[in-house]
Amino acid sequence: MTRLAIVGNPVAHSRSPQIHARFAAATGLAVDYTRIEAPLGSFVATVRAFAESGARGCNVTVPFKGEAFAACTRLSERARRAEAVNTIVFDADGWFGDNTDGAGLVRDIALNAGVALHGKRVLVLGAGGAAAGALDPLLAARPAALVVANRTPAKAQAMIERFAAGAARLDVQLSAAPLEAPGADFDVLVNATAASLQGAVPPLPAGTLRPGALALDMMYGAATLPFLRWARAQGAVARDGLGMLVEQAAEAFFVWMGQRPATFQVLAELRREVDAQVEAAAKASP
Ligand code: ATR
Repeated sequence: MTRLAIVGNPVAHSRSPQIHARFAAATGLAVDYTRIEAPLGSFVATVRAFAESGARGCNVTVPFKGEAFAACTRLSERARRAEAVNTIVFDADGWFGDNTDGAGLVRDIALNAGVALHGKRVLVLGAGGAAAGALDPLLAARPAALVVANRTPAKAQAMIERFAAGAARLDVQLSAAPLEAPGADFDVLVNATAASLQGAVPPLPAGTLRPGALALDMMYGAATLPFLRWARAQGAVARDGLGMLVEQAAEAFFVWMGQRPATFQVLAELRREVDAQVEAAAKASP
């Protein structure tokens, strides 16, 4: 039995155990995936105790992705540049840190949403850990241009500097911009800000998106409804972060287990559950 967990605070809401149980059933692998709430300030001690109990690894969620990055003894290239770790493998040499968030996002866009990023104009909102995790895999898909727009433009500028050499190598025009003036006619928008958590929609000007563009919020559930409504009002195809959630989990499962589970069915089931919850919550509140 391979033991895994998601470590966060809070973590009770996490759907990862459910997703990994479905992957385990589908692949026929024996996996026990639980939730662990680490006290703030005790992330490393909590993970160490789990590792010493014979576990294979863990996922890391809010607010510990930066601490996990600092604690790992080896890092994948994508985690090193993101400066955030969401997947740890415990091995004989120590902790190997990876970041599967961006790969999950790009797989969701390409495979589930069916949008090719190559040659497109892509806009990423936000300059925190969520945005940083997305940049390497987005660049690897070779859009024509990738603009990072943030409420605090200096943070976007500082972030893109870490990725500038890679972007130049891939011939992608990478730049930073303020939220109010990100440029126009984007084909793909990725909202990696925490705005939806506050019920807010980033203040993008009209014309930011071209008609039929894909507008994706990394969050899901009722919190994303204002963003999804805004996106549809712009003539865009609106998408939440549920597909990204399932795809980043599949990528982590692959890192630990060496097998890539099929995601289509799992995403469809999760979609039904989340939609039903959002509908029930809307009915309950006047
Ligand atoms: P995470 O690790 O989830 O990315 P974070 O590092 O706290 O979280 O980053 C949050 C991001 O959301 C930041 O880019 C933040 O903008 P600032 O850098 O200006 O703080 C952005 N953000 C948070 N609330 C926002 C809002 N209401 N509108 C627009 N951007 C917001």
